[in-house]
Amino acid sequence: MKQDMILILDLGSEENTVLAREIRDMGVYTEIHAHDISKDELGALPNVKGIILNGGKNRIVDGREIDAGDCVYSCGLPILSLNHKGSAPLDSEPALRKKTLSDFVFGKCGAEANWNTDNFISDQIELIRKQVGDKKVLLALSGGVDSSVVAALLIKAIGTQLTCVHVNHGLLRKGEPEQVVKVFRDELGANLVYVDAQERFLGKLAGVADPEKKRKIIGAEFIRVFEEEARKLEGIEFLAQGTIYPDIIESGTKTVKTVKSHHNVGGLPEDLKFELVEPLKMLFKDEVRKCGKALGLPDSMVYRQPFPGPGLGVRCLGAITRDRLEAVRESDAILREEFDKNGLAGKVWQYFTLIPDVKSVGVRDGKRADEWPVVIRAVNTVDAMTATVENVPFELLSKITNRIVNEVKGVNRVLFDLTPKPTGTIEWE
Ligand code: XMP
Repeated sequence: MKQDMILILDLGSEENTVLAREIRDMGVYTEIHAHDISKDELGALPNVKGIILNGGKNRIVDGREIDAGDCVYSCGLPILSLNHKGSAPLDSEPALRKKTLSDFVFGKCGAEANWNTDNFISDQIELIRKQVGDKKVLLALSGGVDSSVVAALLIKAIGTQLTCVHVNHGLLRKGEPEQVVKVFRDELGANLVYVDAQERFLGKLAGVADPEKKRKIIGAEFIRVFEEEARKLEGIEFLAQGTIYPDIIESGTKTVKTVKSHHNVGGLPEDLKFELVEPLKMLFKDEVRKCGKALGLPDSMVYRQPFPGPGLGVRCLGAITRDRLEAVRESDAILREEFDKNGLAGKVWQYFTLIPDVKSVGVRDGKRADEWPVVIRAVNTVDAMTATVENVPFELLSKITNRIVNEVKGVNRVLFDLTPKPTGTIEWE
């Protein structure tokens, strides 16, 4: 193992992640675990140099004050206890807090500042090989940042013991399924099963206008397709997932209630229960991106803007039709190309097009033509709870409008959504 670790035990502080990042900023790797970590779990963690008990407001759970178990107090490692009252003076004096943490980490624990992406990757490769042995692993590879980085890491660790399944549900952006095949099968030599399920998804979605029903159908069908593929493969014992640390926090910890349930491939039937491999589960998004870069993934994959799981399905408003879905995909590709060319791609948090289920009259080739409008959305946000609208230069908007009405079949108008969140949400449905 290349890197030392400081273990943070969650004793009800709301600041576990702040503390974890403070210590990682000093160059020392941290992991946050539940207060009731068992002796075996503790013993299995590599290179732990010290433990911080991070207490706080949520220390009372179900009317009882929680504490770490005996195995923690008797393990012989240096322990620093930060409770809410005790750490208050530290919080109000950043310099003192920094010194206290650094004295503990480097002085008492003797940890080395050896946390960096390369060391993380080589440690994870060692851990994955130890966990998996010569067994086979399955991964649902969507092409999003997290699953792509997991795939790249596992290919490096276990090569063709990994099988990636990429389900093309027909709701991906232009060029995405092709990029997944090119990068993972052609360039990285992955064992990749590409499933063209476009017809199947569009069939299930035909005539369904309610957004929640659409989301449910897409989610359920995805699990069904993935399950069918998993059953065709033999001897798989592990399921890899691109879970990252914010997913775990949002799903709730032992001291903090659930914000929203985290669902990736959680809905597989009992007889397909695999052991999980989740090498990114202690990383924050920016750290995941750094890993992706170090593993050689292209920038267009590593710095991809957020994209909803149900994909273009929620941007082709109301009941999805093939022609309107194609128009969303084509207009979105034009918007992305122009944002890229004009330096906005790396600057704007999320930008896309959508098409409502409505037509308006226009003129094409001298004749009256009823066609759809395309709506452009370009927003900035920190946490997606609120959002502001990007001030896109008028000339660029005019150019994009011109291209869309001339290049995209069935579209005669382009609108720019000026509404911040609230009152508008980022997506339209
Ligand atoms: P809203 O529209 O609620 O979106 O302002 C906030 C962020 O969430 C994304 N989004 C989704 N992501 N499944 C997802 O994985 C969904 O059903 C979904 N709906 C919205 C949206 O793109 C934005 O980044």
